[in-house]
Amino acid sequence: SSPSSSSSSSSSSPPTLHFIGMKEDIVRARRVTKLVNGCRDVLVLYHQGQLYGMDMRCYHSGGALQDGDIEEFNGRLCIVCPWHKYKITLAEGEGLYQAVENPTVRPLRTRWCSKGVKQRIHKVTEINGEVFITLNDSSEPTESDVYQTEKYRTVSVNV
Ligand code: FES
Repeated sequence: SSPSSSSSSSSSSPPTLHFIGMKEDIVRARRVTKLVNGCRDVLVLYHQGQLYGMDMRCYHSGGALQDGDIEEFNGRLCIVCPWHKYKITLAEGEGLYQAVENPTVRPLRTRWCSKGVKQRIHKVTEINGEVFITLNDSSEPTESDVYQTEKYRTVSVNV
């Protein structure tokens, strides 16, 4: 089965917008977490005039991304997981890391590399001051999916 953008037989309903909150509140709080559609914990954050949405728990080991700092690496805005400092690009969910160019050459020189998309990113839409998220329902597995289970949800909610 090949993916196609349209199909005459299947009913392609428009993507569902899930209300997250009022933009002014999100701008003030900078980060908002929410269980969306009873099945997905998401983080919506505001940074430098932009809204971003992603899975709430870090793809590495389920860290609380809502507590991470935002920094720029190699010209790309990332959230830095507070647990083990993994860097995740806000716009794409890519894991960035620094690779040593040549271990035999001193001083060591490093360059930024991407591990590819590791964190599931969700689309954020603003309509008349209200902010919505559209869950990214791509069937492509993303590593952060692992932490979207009842087990992690319960731990988070009960703390
Ligand atoms: Fe995020 Fe380890 S859990 S870096």
